[in-house]
Amino acid sequence: MISKRVREMLRSRVSYPLAREYDIRAAGAINLASNESPYGPSPRVLRALKRETARAGSYPDPRATELKQAIGNYIGVEANCVAIGNGSDELVDLACKAFLNPNERALIPLPTFAMYELACRVNGGVPKFFKLPNFEWRVTELKRALKGTKLVFMGRPNNPTGNGMSLRDLRGLLASGRLIIVDEAYAEFAGYSVAKLATKTGNLLVLRTFSKAFGLAGLRVGYAVGNPKLIGALEGIRAPFNVNRLAQAAAFAAMRDKRYMRGVVAKVKQERKYMRRELAKLGFLVLPSDANFLMVDVESLGLDASEICDFLAKRKIFVRNLSNFRGAGSNYVRITVGTPQQNERLVKTIEKLKEVVR
Ligand SMILES: Cc1ncc(COP(=O)(O)O)c(C=O)c1O
Repeated sequence: MISKRVREMLRSRVSYPLAREYDIRAAGAINLASNESPYGPSPRVLRALKRETARAGSYPDPRATELKQAIGNYIGVEANCVAIGNGSDELVDLACKAFLNPNERALIPLPTFAMYELACRVNGGVPKFFKLPNFEWRVTELKRALKGTKLVFMGRPNNPTGNGMSLRDLRGLLASGRLIIVDEAYAEFAGYSVAKLATKTGNLLVLRTFSKAFGLAGLRVGYAVGNPKLIGALEGIRAPFNVNRLAQAAAFAAMRDKRYMRGVVAKVKQERKYMRRELAKLGFLVLPSDANFLMVDVESLGLDASEICDFLAKRKIFVRNLSNFRGAGSNYVRITVGTPQQNERLVKTIEKLKEVVR
């Protein structure tokens, strides 16, 4: 009964590597495994949610007109260059549906966000993996890897490496004519974006989200920015009420309080610096990051990523073990930048771990 494609996926256990292997909701737990905002949404969002619950009995606006307009103003593009999704996860899936024919290949540089591979496979595409040399985005090798592919997914900045391709190199890739899908989930922390460029380019699609800097991960709102033709394809195949009423109202309210978001970004950037310095002092190799997380090589401790994650989890601190991220390796963890108190607790706990293994 199950399709051959899905049977194969189930057999090969291709699935999203969930962070929920531990009880992250335990009292006093600190979740630094999911790249959420430790500050949550703006109070304005909470008020809007309260108001909107009274209207829960009627369907949401299927065109999300007000939200698209607000996002258009935020990015500096027309509303018909924006499509809204149930998280950017849904847009990754819709992009594969819209732009990949069966058995066409999608280039996926590694290590990266698992949804690209999942969406590609479930929609009948074939992933072509390319391991980033030294976790760096080198255009020459990537251009070569594009051979035989229809499109490429790339995080900018990328999860979990925290870095991204330079604008110059990205322009070089665009010249290949392949569809370049740039995932800018962490753009607010990075301070760079090609969303505006996408509307004037035939083969560039940008994905953004309210889950990170705006703190709305639980409500599931993402969006795509691109030229009206590409956006029209996504709009044409999505479910009519894919983004619920509360989510639309919350994202709209978030757009009206950008000051709050900027405050969150400033705090996270400050703490990112602190964390990088402290983790380096502890002897770890920490990759430079433009996002709200750090990729950390823990080898110097003489333990692997799983052992460190277990030690921290027993003390109710959860970080992401990257050993089940394709292409990352067994000695890397990814740590979300938390509040100053959370970060300090993490650093102190690792200090204790160092004493134990010494
Ligand atoms: C690179 C990247 N893209 C997209 C997402 C998911 O975003 P959303 O919550 O909008 O589905 C994540 C979440 O961790 C991510 O790391």
